[in-house]
Amino acid sequence: MRTQVGIVGAGPAGLLLSHLLHRLGIESIVLESQTRRHVEERVRAGVLEQGTVDLLDASGVGERLAREGLVHHGIELRFEGASHRIALTDLTGRSITVYGQQEVVKDLIRARLDAGGEIAFEVSDVTLSGVDSASPAIRYRHAGEARVLDCDFIAGCDGFHGVCRPSIAPGVLTEYSRSYPFAWLGILASAAPTSPELIYAHHERGFALYSMRSPKVTRLYLQCAPDEDLARWSDERIWSELHARLETSDGWRLAEGPILQRGVTPMRSFVAEPMRVGRLFLAGDAAHIVPPTGAKGLNLAVNDVRILADALASWYAGRKGAIDDYSPRCLKRVWRAEHFSWWMTSMLHRFDHGDPFHQKLQLAQLDYVTRSKAAAASLAENYVGLPFDYGEAP
Ligand code: APR
Ligand code: PHB
Repeated sequence: MRTQVGIVGAGPAGLLLSHLLHRLGIESIVLESQTRRHVEERVRAGVLEQGTVDLLDASGVGERLAREGLVHHGIELRFEGASHRIALTDLTGRSITVYGQQEVVKDLIRARLDAGGEIAFEVSDVTLSGVDSASPAIRYRHAGEARVLDCDFIAGCDGFHGVCRPSIAPGVLTEYSRSYPFAWLGILASAAPTSPELIYAHHERGFALYSMRSPKVTRLYLQCAPDEDLARWSDERIWSELHARLETSDGWRLAEGPILQRGVTPMRSFVAEPMRVGRLFLAGDAAHIVPPTGAKGLNLAVNDVRILADALASWYAGRKGAIDDYSPRCLKRVWRAEHFSWWMTSMLHRFDHGDPFHQKLQLAQLDYVTRSKAAAASLAENYVGLPFDYGEAP
């Protein structure tokens, strides 16, 4: 078998890349280790930057998003028992849209299949070869058979635990990482949201986040231990901790409801540089991870593949140097988002068993970003997403 771009991974990065390439007249095949059902039902983050929404819309996959996505113009920061709004749209002219990542994945799978695109689910034993030559190949097993996919380029869109990044020879990549002494326990609850906007809460018992998926479904997170045992969290304990961390003295109450899904999300910062080695490109979580506090993971993946599709189209049009710019163009935004995500995480979580000095610094910073218009605008412009040309040569 042969295609122009072999894509490993059918998460948002791999699927959107395949979709954008198709629109540019470039063929691709997507190889995914999980079932279609698994990738469509995996509950992940849900905040889309305006640029992400605009790109999905402009590329023809924004119809359901426009109907079902919840457009938000602000977020709340809650600390010392009081709530403070960051007026995202007033400060930046831009908004965010709450729409589950798995809904984006469903829309992209449908668009690819409707256009005759090929996605092979449940592949195994994926290995790469020839990435330093002009004819790389992907070997894998599918439906009981060993196969080889010859291609011009390989896109490693297989997430943090995928095979593409580890297949690069030792010493070629420089990896930067930071782990955090906590994780998030997340639940999806069948309960109508009682706050119209997301709430990021700093609390002495630990961070909590109030989010939503629809007018009937609330998404909630609690800071927990990195090795937290879910079995130790009864529904009652989860709700009592959420009430304690999120509710304020002004009488606002969160509504409880049946818990539809629960899980623990690890927290990590990670970047591998460069994002291209020979004919292999890394995109999305395969190349970088941010802690979810800044809601940047999916948006960074979208930006990578936007740049990659553009670079590949230029290459096929004869501008061979375009692929050299892929990694530096992506990394400018990646590092900005790494800083923002680390900063939000540092400002909002309980560290070092509640070290009082650290807590005082956090409260001083929270007070500043909610009092100073300049500081609020800085948070807001990062949260809604910097423009796509951020970091590009003038
Ligand atoms: N072979 C084939 N597919 C693989 C392999 C493999 N060896 N290893 C992993 N995959 C698949 C995974 O099953 C997954 O479907 O690659 C896909 C990677 O998708 P994601 O983890 O969703 O990563 P990405 O597409 O980069 O999306 C960016 O945004 O909200 C954040 O971290 C969140 O996943 C999210 C990310
Ligand atoms: C979510 O709704 O899942 C969500 C929202 C904001 C974040 C992270 C996750 O920062």
